[in-house]
Amino acid sequence: MKIAFEEHGEGFPVVLLHAFPLSRKMWSSQIEAITTENFRLILPDLRGFGETSSFADINSIEDMAKDVAELLDNLEIEQAIIGGLSMGGYVTFNLFRLNPERFKAIILCDTNCSADTEEKRENRYKLIEKIEEKGSQALIDKMLPNLIGEFTKQNNKGLVSELSRIFMETNPQAAIAALRGMAERRDHTDILGEIKVPTILIFGEADSITDVNTARQINEQIPFSNLSIIKNAGHYSNLEQPELFNSALTKFLKTIEI
Ligand code: MLT
Repeated sequence: MKIAFEEHGEGFPVVLLHAFPLSRKMWSSQIEAITTENFRLILPDLRGFGETSSFADINSIEDMAKDVAELLDNLEIEQAIIGGLSMGGYVTFNLFRLNPERFKAIILCDTNCSADTEEKRENRYKLIEKIEEKGSQALIDKMLPNLIGEFTKQNNKGLVSELSRIFMETNPQAAIAALRGMAERRDHTDILGEIKVPTILIFGEADSITDVNTARQINEQIPFSNLSIIKNAGHYSNLEQPELFNSALTKFLKTIEI
């Protein structure tokens, strides 16, 4: 499937994959920081989100990973620094499983290598029922409060209302297709030890979806990884604390030998 994307800057490619139920626009506050370091930033819209429309019943994480591989082929990019936040991280793990040679380095933000637990899977299917009943408002009611940290709720009401607007505009069918894809995604714990490229883990200290303990466990198993914890941020660490996030990310990018 051809997916929409935007690109900025020149230099070695960096690909960032967005979270659920957002789009490539979630990386707007990272564009300047990354391109100033002389990287070419590529931001795709995964199946069903942003300008990549899709009418499937299920959008699997594996298919999303294959879409990104196809995009890189079309752009004639053999190797890149690839990463993502949350669902974007699930896609990154899956792409690493399919094509490890494409990776020069990995960026894993507020994400997890494991498949859903039985309880998480059940909750996703309950959320799907709510979306079928109430439309995308269910995403705001059931999901949004857990995604953003307390600090953001108190101090950045502008971001909270912007996220509510984006959630409301999410196509309900696309949200359902991605929720099914996440519920049925495979576990990638077995490949952590095979990730032999430089890796940064960036997690919000108050992330309650993919928490800092998860980050520490992943960090222990990936041979060349570092963990950066972002203060006063929940699950959407790059949106909640863009400056701290950018500083962790650019510090990492500067260490990569191109
Ligand atoms: C995301 O931020 O992409 C989602 O919260 C991931 C998930 O629900 O597992």
